[in-house]
This record gives sequence, C-alpha cells and structure tokens, in this order.
Amino acid sequence: MDASQERRYRTSAFKSRAERERECELLTRGEIAIEGMVPWSSNYTYLVTLKLDEQLEYGIYKPQCGERPLWDFETGSLCKREVAAYELSAFLNYPNVPVTILRDDAPQGLGMIQQFIDHKRRENFFSLRDKCPEEMQKIAVFDALINNTDRKGGHVLADEQGVIWAIDHGVTFHQDPKLRTVIWDYVDDPIPAPLLQALESLRAELKANGPIRATLERLLTRAELRALTSRLNELLRQKVYPSPPPDWPHIPWPPV
Ligand SMILES: Nc1ncnc2c1ncn2[C@@H]1O[C@H](COP(=O)(O)OP(=O)(O)O)[C@@H](O)[C@H]1O
Ligand SMILES: [Mg+2]
Repeated sequence: MDASQERRYRTSAFKSRAERERECELLTRGEIAIEGMVPWSSNYTYLVTLKLDEQLEYGIYKPQCGERPLWDFETGSLCKREVAAYELSAFLNYPNVPVTILRDDAPQGLGMIQQFIDHKRRENFFSLRDKCPEEMQKIAVFDALINNTDRKGGHVLADEQGVIWAIDHGVTFHQDPKLRTVIWDYVDDPIPAPLLQALESLRAELKANGPIRATLERLLTRAELRALTSRLNELLRQKVYPSPPPDWPHIPWPPV
C-alpha cells in the first residue's frame, strides 16, 4: 500500500474520550424522531434524528419489537447483543463500532440506538480488504471473540474521513460456535501483539469483576458470558486467527 493510500485510512474513530462521551450523551438523552425505515434490513431498522440542545444528528434505531424471530436466538435479545458488542469494542479500543446504547423511551419502545455513520455507499469489506488490512484484522479478531454469525461484506463501512467501522452485531455471543463471516483471509496467521494485549486486559478485567463484567452481565446470559470467556481464553492460548468451524456454513449468504 502506498503512503497516500495509507493516509486515506485513519485507524481511530474518536479523537478523544470526551468526543465518545458527547456522542453517548446525545444518544442517551436526545429527542428521537423517526425519519424512515432503512430499506433491505432484515429486522426493523429506522433512520432517526436525535436532538439535544444545539446538537442534531442522525441515528439508527432498531426496536426490540421489530426483531425477526430466529430459531437459535431468543427473540428480543438482538438489541442487547448490539450494545454488548459496542461495549466490548469500546473496552478493547478496536474495531470501530458506532456508539450503541439501549433506550426504553424510544418511539416504538425498547431498542438500540446507534450513531449513524455517513459512509461511502460503494465501499464494503471486498473493496476495502486490501486497502486497510489492519482494520480488517481487528474486525476478524473481534468477530471470533463475539462469535459473530453474520459478518457480511456490507457490515464494514468506510466514512468520508477514511475511518473503517463495523456494524450489525445483532446475532452474536451465542454460546455455541457459530462464526460466520466473509473475513477468512487470516486463518492461522498470528494475531498482532497489540490486539492480543487488549484481549489480555479484557481477561484481567473480567476476572477482577471490573465494570465491563457488570455491563455484559446486564446484556447476556450467564452461559453466554462463560462461552465468551472460553473463546477469549482460546484466542489467547492459540494466538492465531481461528479456522472455520467444521460442519457449519461459515460464509454468510448473501455475502454482501
Ligand atoms: N450505524 C449505521 N450507520 C449507517 N448506516 C447503518 C448503520 N447501521 C445500519 N446501517 C444501514 O442499515 C442497513 C441495515 O442495517 P443492519 O445493521 O444490517 O440491520 P439488520 O439487523 O436488519 O441486518 C445496513 O446495511 C446499513 O446500510
Ligand atoms: Mg444486516
């Protein structure tokens, strides 16, 4: 990759902790108005505006009541998994997941509210994989950790500033192995040391009953939290990107 290309892709989404907190405040306290439904979403996904004092921003709202029933995930649990995925990404500092919170006073009741990412419509994992492999590696480790069962190419976004974002984490954290993703580029490659270090900190925090454990306990079942801990231990033991699980359709359809 040449230097100009490298400059086009920034790694960090938030310039400061304060910026992240401001975003969180807007999502948590802002007045929500539904603008319309996002077409081709598998669950009800709304584009909303959020207004707080002088701030006005777009957001994404996925109400719990709009979750399509699935055979393997408890109906109504997807919005909580989205929040758990965001919280983990914020703890690890990778990958960039738009700020996501739960609100029970939204227009259609309880649901997740997420920062809207104004992104380049033509870009997705397939167009980005060679331009910013380091960001894709972060997403691949994260997906193995959260047991993401739907990493489609279109769930990787690039914004105008060249920040890469990962979205759509509703079907994650199942207690059985279900990793299904388009990112199998790094199978058996060593996981970069800084990414492992963040996983080590997560393990220490979970062991020490730090705030991240309490956050995850509110959002996931005990069995799911135990399974998360075993995947974490396994990643730290193997130190390489995992292989596709046997006897499991490991590539999502459609892939984009
Ligand atoms: N945070 C976001 N910022 C911008 N666009 C988003 C965001 N979340 C979802 N979208 C858009 O909405 C579409 C459907 O959202 P997705 O999370 O894939 O929902 P579903 O749960 O229905 O699969 C995405 O393909 C994307 O175009
Ligand atoms: Mg989707």
